[in-house]
Amino acid sequence: MSARVFVACNFPSQVLEPFQTQFDTTYNDTGRVLTTDELIAGAQGVEALVVTATDRLDASVVARLPESIRVVGTYSVGQEHLDVEALGARGIAVFSTPDVLDDSCADVAMLLMLGAARRALEGIELLRSGQWTGWSPRQQIGHDVWGRRLGILGMGRIGRAIAQRARGFGMTIHYHNRNRLDPQLELGAQYHATTHGMAAQSDFFCVACPSTPATRRMVNADLIAHLPPQAIVCNIARGDIICDESLVQALESGHVAAAGLDVFDGEPNVHPAYRALPNVFALPHIGSSTWGTRLAMADRMCQNLKWFFEGQTSEDRLI
Ligand code: DGY
Repeated sequence: MSARVFVACNFPSQVLEPFQTQFDTTYNDTGRVLTTDELIAGAQGVEALVVTATDRLDASVVARLPESIRVVGTYSVGQEHLDVEALGARGIAVFSTPDVLDDSCADVAMLLMLGAARRALEGIELLRSGQWTGWSPRQQIGHDVWGRRLGILGMGRIGRAIAQRARGFGMTIHYHNRNRLDPQLELGAQYHATTHGMAAQSDFFCVACPSTPATRRMVNADLIAHLPPQAIVCNIARGDIICDESLVQALESGHVAAAGLDVFDGEPNVHPAYRALPNVFALPHIGSSTWGTRLAMADRMCQNLKWFFEGQTSEDRLI
């Protein structure tokens, strides 16, 4: 008999399909994020619960999960929405879906850098408003991406995928990470033991680290002051790593020339200045949102669940 799985995520049917073909699956058919009560109700009597970044499983929610739950899978690489310790304390295994989204997220990091540096938003608005009066040497002068210095905060798999692309643009790679990488992963990137040291070398500063108590608000006024004038700040990771007030101030003063943001503190709320400033190129958290990646994440999660129920291990197991 196949394991009973409740998919709390609001999946497109193609993403749901691998769960339905491999497990006894019930799912969120509301077309929106479930309330906690709905999530708890859906989890009754099933062995596996599949959630994503918009489903907050803090200690109080974990305490309400039914006894039947043996495993929680998060359809994400981010884990900040889960109290992994509380889940572990209840003997519940936890899996995520890393690796398969690195390249699509890194593609969006490049999009953020290019969009911010070349003032894509202003160009699109000018064209669509019908107010473009024709080519001019004064028009929308932006900043080069090619040949510049890129500082990557967090040189995990996504950070390294960004570095790989940026090298193709002739960028020099700098990074800060908890630990220095082996040379075969570093590939000539310059390691900085401090975030301030890296910031001083970053024409482009790209956030690619997980949100943890140690990284929250790491990109604050002090760090931003260490960036070279006219730097460009991008965030492909989590909104709360940046202190919005400090970044907005730097964007308004021009110390930071532009920002490219795919993630926001308190999503779906967005700091009002990010919606108003012309030098903010912002996207609604689409880093991993391609069909290929969505399906690969589903396959990865199903594989993990299968292995779990067969008693096998997986490197995606968090606890
Ligand atoms: C992830 O996988 O963490 C994406 O940002 C979606 O939450």
